[in-house]
Amino acid sequence: MSQVTEYSEKVMDHFSNPRNVGEIENASGVGTVGNAKCGDIMRMYLDIDENQIVRDAKFKTFGCGAAIATSSMATELVKGKTVEEALKVTNKAVMEALDGLPPVKIHCSLLAEQAIHAALWDYAQKNGITVEGLTPPVNDIDETEEYYAMQGD
Ligand code: FES
Repeated sequence: MSQVTEYSEKVMDHFSNPRNVGEIENASGVGTVGNAKCGDIMRMYLDIDENQIVRDAKFKTFGCGAAIATSSMATELVKGKTVEEALKVTNKAVMEALDGLPPVKIHCSLLAEQAIHAALWDYAQKNGITVEGLTPPVNDIDETEEYYAMQGD
């Protein structure tokens, strides 16, 4: 994907009309992640059925426009997927689905990826399930991504 400097129409659309805003009562899994640097917080709710299919996904995001757009797209992408497939909805997949994000906003999509993981982790813990590749969530996303980016300088 070539570098994007402006918000795409899709980003603007998901920011202006976010899909799946809200909460799921008695959700199968809930995940909350944040980025201490920008202060944005994202909470993801998943309803997962007995066949491990994500029946519904909702979110509440206290954050920037890109965080809202990526949350919205992430919930759309995980709906109907199996738990294993949902785990593969990476920040890159979310960004691609939104036709890209400006570089300074890439961390917002990481928040969406990690919110999915945190909700899946919660689901797995509650049900005593092991999902291959699923690791415990990190609450402050800044610690992971930017920390490792700095190490690479
Ligand atoms: Fe931090 Fe967007 S500026 S999530």
